[in-house]
Amino acid sequence: MYLSENSKEIQASKIRKMFNKSLKYDKVINFTLGEPDFTASQNVVEAGCQAIMNGNTKYSENAGILPLRQEISKILLKEYEVYYNPKNEITVTVGAMGALYLTLKSILNPGDEVIICEPFWTNYLQQVKMCGGVPVLISCKEENDFMLNLQDLENAITKKTKAILLNSPNNPTGSVLNLENLKGIAQIAQKNKVIVISDEVYKGILYDDKDYSSIASLEGMKERTIVINSFSKEYAMTGWRIGYAAGPEEIIANITKLQENVSACAAMPCQYAALEALRGSQDFKKFMLNQYRQRRDRIIKRIREIPRLSCKSPKGTFYAFVNIKELGITSDEFADKLLESKQVVVVPGTAFGDGGEGYVRISYATSMEMIERGLELIEEFVREMIERENK
Ligand SMILES: Cc1ncc(COP(=O)(O)O)c(C=O)c1O
Repeated sequence: MYLSENSKEIQASKIRKMFNKSLKYDKVINFTLGEPDFTASQNVVEAGCQAIMNGNTKYSENAGILPLRQEISKILLKEYEVYYNPKNEITVTVGAMGALYLTLKSILNPGDEVIICEPFWTNYLQQVKMCGGVPVLISCKEENDFMLNLQDLENAITKKTKAILLNSPNNPTGSVLNLENLKGIAQIAQKNKVIVISDEVYKGILYDDKDYSSIASLEGMKERTIVINSFSKEYAMTGWRIGYAAGPEEIIANITKLQENVSACAAMPCQYAALEALRGSQDFKKFMLNQYRQRRDRIIKRIREIPRLSCKSPKGTFYAFVNIKELGITSDEFADKLLESKQVVVVPGTAFGDGGEGYVRISYATSMEMIERGLELIEEFVREMIERENK
């Protein structure tokens, strides 16, 4: 009875609900997790510990320690050929979630609309609502490689549109927006004076660099794009909670001001660990990517051997978004029955919006052994279903 109307509207994620349902079984093969099964590399862990030993345990500047911002600026220049001034165009946040939330909080007035491509990472919808905005969903279809249809985007824009939220590589589809698509989106954003929020947290888990561009690197886009990234996925540092936002000075300054009032800053020892992640050897990152690639290839091959299932090979992330439409059951039914009968837990596509109906997400941030066993059980489950149907 004490809760605000706004907070009552906010829904817990179906991923968590599925995970909770699985807790009643002793042995479960878990394909729900959205975090690397690796832990951060030794040099990163040591840098974090050393920071504590050195007494770097106070508040940092609200925007984060300058050396980390300088290192982020170098990476963005190298990878995007865009220069962000570390003093006023980059702010270090509590994970990408912190950056996303404070970005939305910085730009939204009540009733402002944010265009989101569906299927989408669940938290977007909740965060937009928490900031008083209105999510406007555009369906991205498998037959279009989950690209954003530009006509749909034009049609969705109204006087109230404040921002377009992009996520490439995409959770849950594993798709990557191609250059042509990004150019079209950029044109529409510029014509309508709309901000683009580009969530790039899976950019470090990209199987072929040639596939990828950031919208921020397109002509005239640095001025209207907030790039969001983090160390969670790329460096297996989910629990260290370090992310960042890079963009126009006015918005970055505002995010930093809001951060002062919410968390003051990201944890200082973790910022030193993140600094080491960028400055130190990148071998562990390459090792993880190679492991993900092998798992992806195996999982896709196995899914394609299972009748009535299909799956596009993800270009990035560690998720396979499996099409189950030919089975004639809903994604929720599939996920529930699979858990009950085989103790394998996947996320129903509807966790990522209604447009995810007909799909389930399998996270391969787990061992090859689990992948082999889990896929065997999924195959058994599907074949038994078909047999029952044929009786
Ligand atoms: C698309 C997307 N953006 C952001 C995040 C959050 O990242 P962080 O751990 O840096 O807050 C996630 C986490 O699963 C994600 O999937």
